[in-house]
Amino acid sequence: MTTDARPAHTQSTTHWQRFSVPYEFPVVFTEGVFDPENTALREVLCRYEPAKRHRVVVFVDDGLSAGKPPLVEAINTYAERHRDVIDLACPPVVVPGGEKIKSELHFVEGFQQTLFDLHIDRHSYVIAVGGGAVLDAVGLVASTTHRGVRHIRIPTTVLAQNDSGVGVKNGVNLHGVKNFVGTFAPPFAVLNDLRFIISLPERDKIAGMAEAVKVSLIRDAEFFTWIERHSDELATFERPAMATMIRRCAELHMRQISQGGDPFESGSARPLDYGHWSAHKLESLTRHHLRHGEAVAIGMALDARYSVLAGLLPQGEEERICALLEYLGFELWHPALARTATNGEWVVLEGLKDFQEHLGGELTVTLLAGIGTGVEVHEIDLERMREAMIWLQQRASA
Ligand SMILES: NC(=O)c1ccc[n+]([C@@H]2O[C@H](COP(=O)([O-])OP(=O)(O)OC[C@H]3O[C@@H](n4cnc5c(N)ncnc54)[C@H](O)[C@@H]3O)[C@@H](O)[C@H]2O)c1
Ligand SMILES: [Zn+2]
Repeated sequence: MTTDARPAHTQSTTHWQRFSVPYEFPVVFTEGVFDPENTALREVLCRYEPAKRHRVVVFVDDGLSAGKPPLVEAINTYAERHRDVIDLACPPVVVPGGEKIKSELHFVEGFQQTLFDLHIDRHSYVIAVGGGAVLDAVGLVASTTHRGVRHIRIPTTVLAQNDSGVGVKNGVNLHGVKNFVGTFAPPFAVLNDLRFIISLPERDKIAGMAEAVKVSLIRDAEFFTWIERHSDELATFERPAMATMIRRCAELHMRQISQGGDPFESGSARPLDYGHWSAHKLESLTRHHLRHGEAVAIGMALDARYSVLAGLLPQGEEERICALLEYLGFELWHPALARTATNGEWVVLEGLKDFQEHLGGELTVTLLAGIGTGVEVHEIDLERMREAMIWLQQRASA
């Protein structure tokens, strides 16, 4: 603390309170996280108090609970096997997977009620096993109950393993705005288990790859070329290629958060959100019929073309990006893009305003100055963006 001593006549004295809190959490890549012999979960639970029996509540995405062998049973067996350190406060709680859990606030309240009923305290653990939506909703509950209960994420989709699960954000939707309510709250640990990806529907396997293309486009040209070279294997979901893609993408996201200088996004930039301003709007416009990754693929194609029109990206590179996305299985147009308001304006363009409002400050959109090089701009020429939309529309109908 420092005291800003001023002459007595000014009457105000300012004491500057300053401290910093180091954050660190393990991101473990494993297989068969609930196999009784696998000690990864046990080890993270015991990180601080190895001799203690830890109280644990597990929330499980219902997209997984139907799998074979039944996941809920596997979690019960795991807890029983490791009962010297795990005290399962109640049987695993199965919760709705997908955007529904983020779009109806009663779910959040219901989970908080569960934690209240079970007398969960700040040294207990709330574990979320599921896709990005379940992680976001349960993460919000964990970070707000008692102002923060230890939270472990076990992401089960490509997107959650390579992007959202290793991040520091959570949130739910309100007033039709994505992630309107949420917190920045680093998890206690993340456990990525590739086996979960096997049961994932193809549509979600494809959707998650959008974030890998995204991070390669803004940060790592070599990774983009790797994705291009392995697009056959990725398009058919071959395991080694999927594993490499997920891990590299997760590493790049982790690096951005730890070394990008603004982990809690207090500035005006959202450096990892290339292609996202229109994607978030499209998700709302389609009432989440489009997956996040599917919308991001369209958003990236749009902003790639805009980058060319703005003279930032060499002509032809946008086609290369679109070709890769399509090869991986994405469609780069959705009818909701063409929706217009009563004044004739494309509704999706409102996404620019929403994007700015989410953070406040100056509008900051990431565009491309080359493959592997993101660049932040603070102005979008709407006429040029309309042109980019028409290009995308014509391309889709060609
Ligand atoms: N917090 C962040 O930093 C951040 C970053 C990116 C995205 N997100 C959010 O993540 C959400 C999207 O997450 P997502 O792409 O993981 O999709 P999702 O969570 O919506 O899940 C998609 C579907 O897959 C099912 N599912 C999950 N795992 C499965 C498995 N292994 N096998 C079979 N089915 C399974 C779910 O039940 C759901 O029906 C969006 O809400 C997005 O806003 C958050
Ligand atoms: Zn995203």
